[in-house]
Amino acid sequence: MASVATPGPARILVVGGGGRENALAWALLRSHGVEAVWVAPGNGGTVDLPGCRQLAVAETDADGLLEACRRQAVDLVVVGPEAPLAAGLADRLRAAGLAVFGPGADGARLEASKHWAKTLMQDAGVPTARHWPAASESEALELLETHGRPLVVKADGLAAGKGVTVADTIEEARAAIREIFAGRFGADFGADAGAALVLEERTEGPEVSVFALTDGRDLVLLPPAQDHKRIGEGDTGPNTGGMGAYAPAPLLDATGLEEVRRRVLEPTLEALRRRGIDYRGVIYAGLMLTAEGPSVIEFNCRFGDPECETLMPLLGPELAAVLLACAEGRLAEAQALSVSPLCSACVIAAAEGYPGSVRLGDVIHVSLESQERLQLFHAGSRRDPDGLCRTSGGRVLALVAQAEDFDTAFQRVYAGLEQVRFEGMTFRRDIGHQVRSR
Ligand code: AMP
Ligand code: GLY
Repeated sequence: MASVATPGPARILVVGGGGRENALAWALLRSHGVEAVWVAPGNGGTVDLPGCRQLAVAETDADGLLEACRRQAVDLVVVGPEAPLAAGLADRLRAAGLAVFGPGADGARLEASKHWAKTLMQDAGVPTARHWPAASESEALELLETHGRPLVVKADGLAAGKGVTVADTIEEARAAIREIFAGRFGADFGADAGAALVLEERTEGPEVSVFALTDGRDLVLLPPAQDHKRIGEGDTGPNTGGMGAYAPAPLLDATGLEEVRRRVLEPTLEALRRRGIDYRGVIYAGLMLTAEGPSVIEFNCRFGDPECETLMPLLGPELAAVLLACAEGRLAEAQALSVSPLCSACVIAAAEGYPGSVRLGDVIHVSLESQERLQLFHAGSRRDPDGLCRTSGGRVLALVAQAEDFDTAFQRVYAGLEQVRFEGMTFRRDIGHQVRSR
């Protein structure tokens, strides 16, 4: 990448209203040359961010977002969540001449269709578990009987992280298949992807997430992150969107990360290009580090949440310019993105009942002083007309800290959590157990 600074965007719209978007808006506001950031719709945290303005437009309202971009003369749109990307928001905004960081609907199929993504990986020679697509319940059950072992069952479409069953028994796998065909996950039946689910060979190993910023040709890799998907301590209980994360995950050193670039990301980009897809945004590779090397568990077309909250504080003030360069297809000429060598730790405070039905509307009390290397990002929160901030979702807050080592970083996060409270607040105390000595 070139070392000469190219002008970054001054006015940015961030689409979304979760912890990820709070962190993105915060990081972009620290970037060189950024004057204002709008968030649509934002949350109770983005309201308090200096320089950040709220737009009461839903992330799925393409007309409303386009109108807002024109009115505010934004130079760059950063789309946070997968649903608007899969629905073609980036295509729509690009067609109107806007610079958008986020793939079009074609590229978003990496996440929106497991079958499509698996086929692409197969074509590209990207290491991933063997899989068998099925378009009907009988076909899926038959495949299962033929294999005679509990395969992993994955609904084909977007399922908010809940469409996967890693079955221990054949009976459990059968039940998961029936559940998908009972319509629980909105799988894309009979769509051109040709599958409602995929059955997959089970693989073993620790999991790690790698995020690459791309303009469809070049790639910038961020430090690898590890997420904690289960609700319970000791990684037990039901899956969630993620209860905490840390980065850089030592599981993948510089050599390992290079291997992921060479064996996973570059061939995937090339396969996308062969399909005529100009992918501009984040490729999120969920990897399992098996005895044979990294194997792709899933691709997502967006930043992970809470990995994004964990990573943003590590990124330098070139971020906005780099995202714009991705959006404009000129990443090769962009200035290098500086990355802090510190350890970053993130813990999510969730509402009572999460990931099931949660209690909402509780007042959030924060007595935390703003500090260098400590950030409080909001996720499921809103600011009410009475001026109070209340819970409005399952994952409510993300507390993030950076330090020279993970013990100190997590110590700061957990100390910070003592200064935040709302009725029924829950969090895991063992986030980062893999990298903590106490
Ligand atoms: P996904 O939504 O595809 O990331 O899957 C959710 C979780 O299921 C992953 O984080 C893994 O822990 C697990 N999983 C997915 N695919 C496999 C597989 N082939 N073998 C073992 N575990 C898997
Ligand atoms: N933290 C996992 C995800 O965002 O999918």
